Amino acid sequence: MEGREVNSFAMNSKEHVLVTGGAGFIGSHLCETLLEQGRSVTILDNLDPFYDVAIKEQNLARLQSLGKDLRMVRGDIRDPDKVREAMEGVSGVIHLAALAGVRPSLERPTEYWSVNLVGTQTLLDALKGRPEVPFVFGSSSSIYGGNEKVPFHEEDPVDEPVSPYAATKKAGELCCRVFHHLYGNPVSCLRFFTVYGPRQRPEMAIHKFTRLIDEGKKIPMFGDGESSRDYTFVSDIVKGVVASLDRRVDPGDPSSGFRIYNLGGSATTTLKGLIDRIASALGKEALIEQLPMQPGDVLRTFADVSRAEKELGFQAEVPIDQGIPLFVDWYRENKGRTQA
Ligand SMILES: NC(=O)c1ccc[n+]([C@@H]2O[C@H](COP(=O)([O-])OP(=O)(O)OC[C@H]3O[C@@H](n4cnc5c(N)ncnc54)[C@H](O)[C@@H]3O)[C@@H](O)[C@H]2O)c1
Repeated sequence: MEGREVNSFAMNSKEHVLVTGGAGFIGSHLCETLLEQGRSVTILDNLDPFYDVAIKEQNLARLQSLGKDLRMVRGDIRDPDKVREAMEGVSGVIHLAALAGVRPSLERPTEYWSVNLVGTQTLLDALKGRPEVPFVFGSSSSIYGGNEKVPFHEEDPVDEPVSPYAATKKAGELCCRVFHHLYGNPVSCLRFFTVYGPRQRPEMAIHKFTRLIDEGKKIPMFGDGESSRDYTFVSDIVKGVVASLDRRVDPGDPSSGFRIYNLGGSATTTLKGLIDRIASALGKEALIEQLPMQPGDVLRTFADVSRAEKELGFQAEVPIDQGIPLFVDWYRENKGRTQA
């Protein structure tokens, strides 16, 4: 057996969950679900100004208005004192706080390494001596870099990331693996494939394209429009995250203590197809400015989710043709309050 004894838990024993990055896009949806399930939630988030802080404040206000058991610790995941404070009494940790996004990581690689790696290790350090607490890490499909074999499987090589962001996520997974090996906590690393839905980060393609088309402005389209992505609606991601928190580690299979899961829609959409769908949902024309491919971008992502299906019961339920109109409806209702 590798590492220390593997811990096994009953479903739903994680009644008090720490969510780092809970004020952000995915985190705020996740917290809402956890609170609605009757769990206590502590958020650790520093409301980083990567995009408009008012959006994160709105997310928090919305969570507070649910009137459930929510505690907010405003602080940095690299600050051991804040992390200790946030960890008090929790029975599960879901770590989503990060500097996200591929392109900005080319401009600020050192900050990305600092937050995404030192922050992750600081959280893990604070879990030492609490082997019963499971740790769920928000990783990324960007880890697969320029891999040509599709769909991407968790056992495929991921040694050639093409952006600092992807490299920090790969390094984060390694920190998690080492921590599990040494201390036995159940760990799940979740490779999210481009997540979208209400409250999506304003700089992400779907949100940005929707805004530009709506305002009659040109869309910068990098490449010939044939690059493709596996898009995942945020409610599907949340289901996968919660299932991985609650998953039972099999005491007869020590390797199950550490698991990597792809969470994706398991379908691909070209960039051109995405723009067409957004324009059609808005009932407006897309004006396209074609530009060269950007360094750091990958040509395609496509998730093999068979492991998550088998072990987490994960299945994406919102296909892109439903998800884009849902996003556009949300955009219309919130226009003006969600701009970066
Ligand atoms: N959105 C996607 O498509 C996607 C895809 C793959 C992976 N991910 C990962 O999922 C996670 C959530 O992504 P998101 O899209 O919700 O991003 P987000 O930027 O909306 O959320 C991240 C949150 O982390 C917080 N944060 C940043 N630095 C921090 C620090 N030093 N200390 C404490 N809090 C800090 C931010 O304030 C923010 O609220 C990230 O780890 C991201 O890398 C997202």
